[in-house]
Amino acid sequence: MGCDAMEIRGIGYLGLNETDLGAWRAFGEDLLGLMSVSAEESGRPEDECLLYRIDGRNWRLAVHRADTPGLAYVGWELPHRAALAEAKDHLVSCGLDLDTSVSAEDRGVSDLIRFVDPYGHAHELFCGAPTNLDAPFVSPAGVSGFETDNGLGHVLFAVPNANEAEDYYARVLGMKTTDRMDMGNGKRTIFMRSRERHHMIAITDVLPEHGFGHVMLETSKIEDVGRAWDRVQAAGTPIFMSLGQHANDPMVSFYIESPAGNGIELGWAGMLIDEDSWVVREVGPNELWGHRGAQMDEIEAGGGRS
Ligand SMILES: [Fe+2]
Repeated sequence: MGCDAMEIRGIGYLGLNETDLGAWRAFGEDLLGLMSVSAEESGRPEDECLLYRIDGRNWRLAVHRADTPGLAYVGWELPHRAALAEAKDHLVSCGLDLDTSVSAEDRGVSDLIRFVDPYGHAHELFCGAPTNLDAPFVSPAGVSGFETDNGLGHVLFAVPNANEAEDYYARVLGMKTTDRMDMGNGKRTIFMRSRERHHMIAITDVLPEHGFGHVMLETSKIEDVGRAWDRVQAAGTPIFMSLGQHANDPMVSFYIESPAGNGIELGWAGMLIDEDSWVVREVGPNELWGHRGAQMDEIEAGGGRS
């Protein structure tokens, strides 16, 4: 059951938990090409929180110091305060307990509401985009730009049961299913969106460990992904999956580990969905080329494919 009232535009911001912020400086700037926000601008000590820009927003990615790596929060963007009020009514009607431990001021937005899903992921719905009109985004690694019209990208969650998670995110966040991928042995990866971006949440029950899988950032040009892949090779960064192209997105991307082991996908040319003509697809697992490595081995083992 979907939720017509929810007007999520995409992932407006995202927070990661990392154990070593010192290691993130080179990773975020030199490897990924993200633009650091100075401690003076962010108002946060650099040994507690790093903020990064990828476009005209004040920040899109926050990296928090924590004892264990993982997802700190996903910030879902709504267009205005009335939409956020409707969303709040909806979440309450779903029986969710709202978490008031974080304020709008903490994120630099106009207003926010927050809840934690059954899998332990914190979701923040907000309005009032923190926008920087004074300084344009300039990548320290020469990335030409990031595609953020439908939010900063997507997240993947590994869950015990993908069909149940699909129902949950449809009911609570109003996510619409784009593709349902049969991984074998009854396992699925399910791709969901609220607007044109092919997926904003992917959920899978094919991975042995449950929790946050990765966040994907989308560059403007294929050269940006290719050059970042060169930087990954040169730096010896741990790779989850090599450069490749999914058949369904059909995004060209690679997957690496952050300093604390969080998954980061850097991709290009993800599909945009035409809401008027799209129908949900049932597809099989398929890579056009590449995407080899430890995580693909786990996926293939979990799905029971040869
Ligand atoms: Fe992904």
